[in-house]
Amino acid sequence: MTVRIAIIGAGQMGADHARIFAEELPGASLQVICDNEGATARRIADEFGAVDIATDAESVILRPDVDAVVLASPDFTHAPLSMACIAAGKNVLCEKPLSQSPEECQLVMRAEAEAGQKYIQLGFMRRYDRSYIEMKEANFSGSLGRVLMMHNFHRNVETPALDFTGAMAITNSAPHEFDVIRYVMGTEFTSISAWQPKRSDDLVAPVIMVLETKDGQIVNIEVNNNAAYGYDVKAELVGEKGTISTNEVTHTRINSALQNSTSYDVDWRTRYAEAYRQQNRDFLTFVETGVFPEICSDSWDGYCASLVAESGANALKNNRKIAINMIAKPEFYQ
Ligand SMILES: NC(=O)c1ccc[n+]([C@@H]2O[C@H](COP(=O)([O-])OP(=O)(O)OC[C@H]3O[C@@H](n4cnc5c(N)ncnc54)[C@H](O)[C@@H]3O)[C@@H](O)[C@H]2O)c1
Repeated sequence: MTVRIAIIGAGQMGADHARIFAEELPGASLQVICDNEGATARRIADEFGAVDIATDAESVILRPDVDAVVLASPDFTHAPLSMACIAAGKNVLCEKPLSQSPEECQLVMRAEAEAGQKYIQLGFMRRYDRSYIEMKEANFSGSLGRVLMMHNFHRNVETPALDFTGAMAITNSAPHEFDVIRYVMGTEFTSISAWQPKRSDDLVAPVIMVLETKDGQIVNIEVNNNAAYGYDVKAELVGEKGTISTNEVTHTRINSALQNSTSYDVDWRTRYAEAYRQQNRDFLTFVETGVFPEICSDSWDGYCASLVAESGANALKNNRKIAINMIAKPEFYQ
C-alpha cells in the first residue's frame, strides 16, 4: 500500500516531514502540501514532488485522495485539526503539543474514545532516540537500583523570536522533556517549581524546573533557549547503584592548533534525524495496520505534557511550587 499523505503547515517542521516521506521512506507519497501561504505550499510541493497544494486545512482533511495527515501548523491549530481528522476517520501524525490547554486535550481524547480507536500519533520523537531508549531499558532492568533522580538539559542556540518568554520555554520547549522523562522513568509528575536567573541583556534567561514524581523521585530540567554555543540536549538518570547518561552524538573529532574538539548540531532536525525517520516509519505502519505503535505518545501523553507545562508556567509566574493534579487515566488509554 502507498499511503497518500497530506502535510498541513509547510514551515520548518512541515518541510522536514515532507523531505522524510519523499526521500527516505518507501510506502508514502506526498499527495497535498497545505499551507496558509500558498507560495510556501508551492515551494515545498515543488521541492519534494507533491501532487497538489492547498491553503485550507479542513478541506484537505476531507479529500478522498488523502489517506493520512501530518499536522505541522502552529500549536493552536493542532487540537481542532486533530478532531477534524478523527471525524474524517484519518490517522494523524500531530506535531507536539497536542494543545497548550489540558482541557482542549481532554476534548480530543473524548473525540478519540467516542470514535472507538486511536487516530493520533503525537510527534514526541525523542522516544525513538537510542539514548533515551537505553536509559529506559536500564531503568526497567533494575541495573541502576532504584532510580532517584533525572537531570535534563535542553539548550538551543537562540530563541526563534525576540518576544520569546520564560513561560514559552516551559510550554514550547520543555514538553519534549516532560514526555520523554515520563517515558524513561515510567512515572507521573506530582509537582513543579520553576525559576529564572537574570541575564545581562534583554534575551530570555534559562528556566530551571524541579519536579517531583509520585514515586518520590526528583527531576530537574534546564531549558536554555539562548545558550549561544549550539543545540545541546543531555540527560542523566541516577539510581542507587549507578547512573546512565546520554553521550554526545558526533561522527568526527577535530584536532587542530593544540586543541581537540567536536561540533554541535545547529538544531533538532539533524540531532534527531534518525528518531524522526523511525517515528514517521511507524506512522506509515500505523496507517496501514491500524495498530497504534507502542513506543509512541498518544493523546493521553499529550494531555499529561500539556498539564505539566501549564503547571510549570503557573509556578514560574507565581514563584511557588504547583501541584500537578492529573485526571484519572481514561479506560480507553489504559
Ligand atoms: N518535534 C519537534 O522537534 C518540533 C520542533 C519544532 C517545532 N515543532 C512543532 O511543529 C509545529 C510547527 O513548527 P515550525 O517550527 O515548523 O513552525 P513554522 O512557523 O516554521 O511553520 C508553520 C507553518 O504553518 C503555516 N500555517 C499556519 N496556520 C496554518 C493553517 N491553519 N493551516 C495550514 N498552514 C498553516 C504557516 O504559514 C507556516 O508556514 C509547531 O506546533 C511546533 O511546536 C516540533
